Amino acid sequence: MGDTDISKLRQNYTKHELTEQLASLDPMSQFSEWFDNALKSGILEPNAMVLSTISGNKPKSRVILLKGFDARGFVFFTNYSSHKGHELAENAFGNMTFFWDQLERQVRIEGIFEKISLEESQEYFWSRPRESQIGAWVSNQSEVIAGREILDEKLAYFQEKFKNEAVVPKPEYWGGYLLRPESIEFWQGRPNRLHDRLLYTLEGNIWKRERLSP
Ligand SMILES: Cc1cc2nc3c(=O)[nH]c(=O)nc-3n(C[C@H](O)[C@H](O)[C@H](O)COP(=O)(O)O)c2cc1C
Repeated sequence: MGDTDISKLRQNYTKHELTEQLASLDPMSQFSEWFDNALKSGILEPNAMVLSTISGNKPKSRVILLKGFDARGFVFFTNYSSHKGHELAENAFGNMTFFWDQLERQVRIEGIFEKISLEESQEYFWSRPRESQIGAWVSNQSEVIAGREILDEKLAYFQEKFKNEAVVPKPEYWGGYLLRPESIEFWQGRPNRLHDRLLYTLEGNIWKRERLSP
């Protein structure tokens, strides 16, 4: 046990509010505005979020970097053969949760994941530094390995293999997923634990907006 009594840690949230008048009727516009605020807020990794998937009947979560969003939804990149890749192949339903502490904000997005096109994955793959491209070849993400030296050996192997190639090919197993949102909840911390929560739910192709009790 540490010396700090964590039950005494407490923040009163006073910075912002999220009223029906302030919030957009379109959650993608609202996300865009809050994401822009997060970018400007000095948060170290404003695009970091917790991605949750389902394995059988067990939830699985991990931190991932969001790499884009547009009218279709939210994109991230990974190894399709990783645990999360297998989980999304088994059950395409999942969740992304953002926490922007400096803004006292949370966003929770639920929906269905699908793989993006090969062309879109390639375009992003080739925009990454060459070392990261080779790293994608080195890592069979989420597999058990005997030790760190396995990675060093594979790195040396792939550096040699691609040394005369101007362009490192994208491994087949590496690419992006798009989350098509079905619901998006915006949470703004407010004083006395009476936070603002606006939930947008897709009904047909119309976004319904409701306020939730904190
Ligand atoms: C800040 C941060 C950013 C990360 N970004 C990614 C990412 O964009 N893609 C990815 O596959 N893993 C990313 N990871 C690693 C994942 O958290 C996770 O360890 C990995 O994807 C394996 O997950 P899985 O075994 O559930 O498939 C990131 C981890 C952290 C802490």
